Amino acid sequence: MINMAIAPNLENYEQARATFKWEEAEKEFTWNKSGKCNIVYEAIDRKCEQGAANDIALYYSDGDRDEQYTYEKLQKLSNRFARGLKSLGVAKGDRVFIFLPRTPEYYVAMLGTIRIGAIAGPLFEAFMEKAVKDRLEDSEAKVLVTSPELLERVPLHELPELKRVIIVGADEVDEGKRQVAYQEIMRHDSTPIVEWLDKEDAMMIHYTSGSTGKPKGVLLSHYAMVHMYISGKWVYDLKPTDIYWCVADPGWITGTSAGMWAPWLNGTPVVMRGGRFNPEHWYETLAKHKVTVWFSAPTAFRMLMAAGTEIAKKYDLSNLRHILSAGEPLNPELIKWGMDTFGVPIYDNWWMTETGSSVIANFPALEIRPGSMGKPIPGIEVEIVNNIGTPMGTNELGNLAIKPPWPGLMKTIWNNPSKYADYFVNGWYISGDSAYKDEDGYYWFEGRIDDVINTMGERVGPFEVESKLVEHPAVAEAGVIGVPDPVRGEVVKAYITLRQGFHESDELKEDIMNFVRERLAAHARPRIIEVRNKLPKTRSGKIMRRVLKAKELNIPTGDVSTIDD
Ligand code: WT7
Repeated sequence: MINMAIAPNLENYEQARATFKWEEAEKEFTWNKSGKCNIVYEAIDRKCEQGAANDIALYYSDGDRDEQYTYEKLQKLSNRFARGLKSLGVAKGDRVFIFLPRTPEYYVAMLGTIRIGAIAGPLFEAFMEKAVKDRLEDSEAKVLVTSPELLERVPLHELPELKRVIIVGADEVDEGKRQVAYQEIMRHDSTPIVEWLDKEDAMMIHYTSGSTGKPKGVLLSHYAMVHMYISGKWVYDLKPTDIYWCVADPGWITGTSAGMWAPWLNGTPVVMRGGRFNPEHWYETLAKHKVTVWFSAPTAFRMLMAAGTEIAKKYDLSNLRHILSAGEPLNPELIKWGMDTFGVPIYDNWWMTETGSSVIANFPALEIRPGSMGKPIPGIEVEIVNNIGTPMGTNELGNLAIKPPWPGLMKTIWNNPSKYADYFVNGWYISGDSAYKDEDGYYWFEGRIDDVINTMGERVGPFEVESKLVEHPAVAEAGVIGVPDPVRGEVVKAYITLRQGFHESDELKEDIMNFVRERLAAHARPRIIEVRNKLPKTRSGKIMRRVLKAKELNIPTGDVSTIDD
């Protein structure tokens, strides 16, 4: 038995690993005394019942708006939203997607949806028409919550399952076009409403990219709350006295799991900053809200580093206790920059959309090993395995794998049980990352095994970009890979062949880049395009990204026995 209040440290880490059971963390929750649960009840309503009703749960600013929300206010607003959804006929298990800029209404919609047992689908504001359509179509979303600007990217006529669109920030809506105004929804009363659910009932879907096919709908359950709570407590080391800012957009798993659930389940107030990345605004936000724990990503640190340390010096950042990083490898150089600039450590932690919450971490209570991802959190067994799922020795490079189940593990891939099954080999969840473990049990990240691209900490599927590229009138064929970039980790590079009658020019490349940006998403835009006469293909016609990548990086191409010529 370990004391839940004490984070694992060097002395008790091994003991915690040996003795911690998730059932112990479960005792922190009420389970409605009947075994039923709801993450919104635990994160918001219960805080109100425990005397924190008037504590601040959310600080929001974006240059125009500057607002504070108590737990009670979030409770009431989300009750209204929940009742509004019910009035539209939304029931348990229905999908409600949220496509909004980073604003408090995003959270209200999430909380209101999940409160009534519907499944929330958070979308990233930078998604363009194709990305939005794929997700709404695959999930058969019944309701979409969006803004007048973002609505322009929603092809309503191609989405017959989408029954209603709730518009935030419009004076008038077109009811003929299935629209209803947010302010109408919020006229419903704020008396308590909670759907009591089984632990394994669905909570939210985050779409994420693989190397082939359309994005995958990763379905997480309410039970993931136990994992998010423990990550908040031990990995992010959050206390009710902290002020916590996770910069990630709620359209990505970091923005929900680590951005709202982990802190609120631990009673920690959250800061949300609207608008785009801007070093000046970011430091201002840290100072203004006296942020004590800050969660960001290596690309953002590199961008801040590039903007110069003098900007940071203008602000009082002395409240910071520590900084957290996830999503891409954290180079030791950045940890040093963090120490020099803020005087506090940056702790790396590793996980994925599919894992629901943090799995490997440099715990604040452990000694940091710069460059490593850290050690597995108690309750989760991690191993390096070979391709048939047999554990390997220390310092051997292999597949980073996790022993199922654990509370945050996805329940399935929406609409695609065979994709879900593909993750498991010989009883291990295979992450798709390669890594090794050192003698002391620290894990070191090596790279992705598949073709998935990680640019600015965001996962981009090469297939989606290739599919978009070939829709451009000038493009005949496309092969897309990630190439190393000093700031963004990787950038998207496209190799293309041109159709008859088109000739290579800077304007044409620019036009093709914009085509992807405007129709798929800004972060998926190729930053480099190389025109070729032909692309390496298998005899069955599949473009061999591996060969393109090997040429690009000047490494051996591996087995090319299936290449066309
Ligand atoms: C992929 C998952 C952190 C959750 C948000 C990203 C890469 C994640 C690290 C890290 C090196 C990392 C992996 C992983 N990744 N954390 N600390 N060090 N790489 O979730 O979009 O599902 O991406 O991000 O390659 O497989 P995601």
